[in-house]
Amino acid sequence: MSVVHEVRKNATRKTAEKSGSTGTQSRLTRAGDRQDTAARLLASSARMSYDPLIEVDWEADIPEGLYGMTPEWCSLYGTELWERMTDEQRSTLTRHEAASISGTGIWFEMILMQMLLRDIYTHDPSTPHVQFALAEIADECRHSTMFARSAQRFGIPSYRPKNWILQSARLFKATASGSLAYGGTLFAEEILDMMQRDFMRDERVQPITRTVSKIHVLEESRHIKFAREECVRRVRNASRFKRARVRLVLGVTAYFVVTSLVNDKVYEAAGLDVTEAKKAAKDNRHYHDKIREGSAKTVEFLDEVGLIGGPSKLLLRRAHVL
Ligand SMILES: [Fe+2]
Ligand SMILES: [Fe+2]
Repeated sequence: MSVVHEVRKNATRKTAEKSGSTGTQSRLTRAGDRQDTAARLLASSARMSYDPLIEVDWEADIPEGLYGMTPEWCSLYGTELWERMTDEQRSTLTRHEAASISGTGIWFEMILMQMLLRDIYTHDPSTPHVQFALAEIADECRHSTMFARSAQRFGIPSYRPKNWILQSARLFKATASGSLAYGGTLFAEEILDMMQRDFMRDERVQPITRTVSKIHVLEESRHIKFAREECVRRVRNASRFKRARVRLVLGVTAYFVVTSLVNDKVYEAAGLDVTEAKKAAKDNRHYHDKIREGSAKTVEFLDEVGLIGGPSKLLLRRAHVL
């Protein structure tokens, strides 16, 4: 499908991000005008948005022997246990792990939709800023349906974070705002983005997963731009105390997003001993490196705007984000 060609447009964003990021001050003065940015993002959204219920061929056959995601992103890849697994176990595990990652994606998208809606509640709906926020919410509605539909197509149950995490996050989703809301969003969106850029190009991966990943990567590039600029605007005038509080809660949020990516039940689905598999994943240096690689852009950005540091660094290290 044509979406693959559109990926090149994301290169523009990458180049813009690479140019001239020298320290907190430059980052903090570099956010564009809020309405100008939103107007550009709205125009991009009008040119390039996808309805996954139409764009994805949900009835297509599911080829045997393909992975559910790029195996190098699998929590067991590179371990001695992975070497012992059959090809069938590897393909089953990667399908379930991809569904689990998407399940965490749905969870955070639901949180994000609520944060966005609260954020624009009192703003003038005739502004590009509010209209883009509404477009983003509409994107996320479609994404969550797309992720759920994809797992269903593979006959995989809905994986969600542990119930106590779902319940505890109610406070965050009901209260987080400003740089905390947008910083947290970046952690979730960018790690998914890094993985899905690999999934969509990888010929070893199931076609449905590749198409779903392409659609998500394309639409998320606008969200990431929006969240980064909004984060900069909102942290610019924050007091030292407020920044310290945001750093702390942001670290906790990132910890739970990253550690919720892989549900324990995916190992059971692949016929593995859950205790052994969890231990292998916990000690898997390769996986830790991938998590760090996937979070690197977010960490660099948040560090430059002064939102990484303090006690939450311990949690970020424990989650292998740092
Ligand atoms: Fe999304
Ligand atoms: Fe998003």
